[in-house]
Amino acid sequence: MHPLPIARALALACIGFASAATQAAEVEVLHYWTSGGEAKSVAELKKIVAAKGVVWKDFAVAGGGGENAATALKARVISGNPPAAAQVKGPSIQEWGKEGVLANLDAVAAAEKWDALLPAAVAPIMKYKGSYVAAPVNVHRVNWLWVNPAVLKKAGATVPTNWDEFFAAADKIKAAGQIAIAHGGMPWQDATVFESVALGTGGAAFYRKALVELDQGTLTGPQMIKTFETLARIKTYIDRDAAGRDWNLATAMVINGRAGMQFMGDWAKGEFTAAGKKPGIDYLCLAVPGSEGAYTFNIDSMLMFKMKKPEDQQSQQVLASAIMSPDFQELFNLNKGSIPVRSGVNKTKFDSCAQKSMADLDASSKSGSLVPSLAHGMAVSSAAQGAMTDVIARFMNSNMSPKDAVTALAKAAKTR
Ligand code: GAL
Repeated sequence: MHPLPIARALALACIGFASAATQAAEVEVLHYWTSGGEAKSVAELKKIVAAKGVVWKDFAVAGGGGENAATALKARVISGNPPAAAQVKGPSIQEWGKEGVLANLDAVAAAEKWDALLPAAVAPIMKYKGSYVAAPVNVHRVNWLWVNPAVLKKAGATVPTNWDEFFAAADKIKAAGQIAIAHGGMPWQDATVFESVALGTGGAAFYRKALVELDQGTLTGPQMIKTFETLARIKTYIDRDAAGRDWNLATAMVINGRAGMQFMGDWAKGEFTAAGKKPGIDYLCLAVPGSEGAYTFNIDSMLMFKMKKPEDQQSQQVLASAIMSPDFQELFNLNKGSIPVRSGVNKTKFDSCAQKSMADLDASSKSGSLVPSLAHGMAVSSAAQGAMTDVIARFMNSNMSPKDAVTALAKAAKTR
């Protein structure tokens, strides 16, 4: 039997929550959406739960990629005081499931028919042992290159469609005295560039074998060497002040014309949008060279933790229901740069980059070139991801050779 008075929670959610409002129902949410575009996105969720009578208790932990947030979450769960919900995704959901600390969302999921609304590949990620424990928020694509066309034009460079053209454009931007590649020297950002380069130089089948299946031969093979060689070349176009720079500040460099291009997932588009910039005019969203048609996905989700008080359990159901609502999925993703994860959402207001993402997601899932993001916690265990990210970051910050890098990466991939 389910411990929560679900029917009541759902009824309250539907009638505007007048009674719960007087009890000041509350939901504490741990997240790392702290940049300009992200804060706007999360404000939409706050509004929706507030309209349902639930007060949002913000537990924001700054730090792109979510490493700091993950550390804060562990501390709270270990001390027996978890937040109601936390921004956790991918295989980490299973890791938390094994700890026996998660809430059960099956009643709300069944009432709202989540199984029918979510893509067949997504629903299992949100479940532990067959039960829903998390609510999916969006689909982010990681293999994007963000370009400021005015910077390219001023440098006499053309928009790149392959790696040769990419490096030719980078050379011209550099020669014109601008920064060719905006980057923040943080391990997760290094890994973000790395995985896009792996996809763009080796293709989806190579990516899957190496970075999802962790096949030792592929991890040390010629395509991985080529990946690191390309990464070594990319390093030479990054400015000296990159160390420790936040991703959104790197995006700001592209927005304001200090830099020409950035490798980043489409949360970067949230920054362009927040700055009032228009795709196709002020900026371009291109698939990373060589990765056109392929798609690295990163699905954000809110993982729910077991709550003792019935009113907290109710608020949690309200939050889950709000996250899956078409209104939220539309508004949040318009601001966030991502696309809705569930069906039945109005897509007419989404811009050309989002439309491209939707079309490419569809096409890549049919052609078999849809792969989970390594850098964003969708592909492997958190332990293997952490160890592999360390190797990539070491490569970015030293003179390590591509040969040594593949050996170290393959060893790191064995981390359990
Ligand atoms: C990703 C996350 C995005 C965005 C980004 C920067 O891992 O999925 O929602 O927050 O990191 O922090």
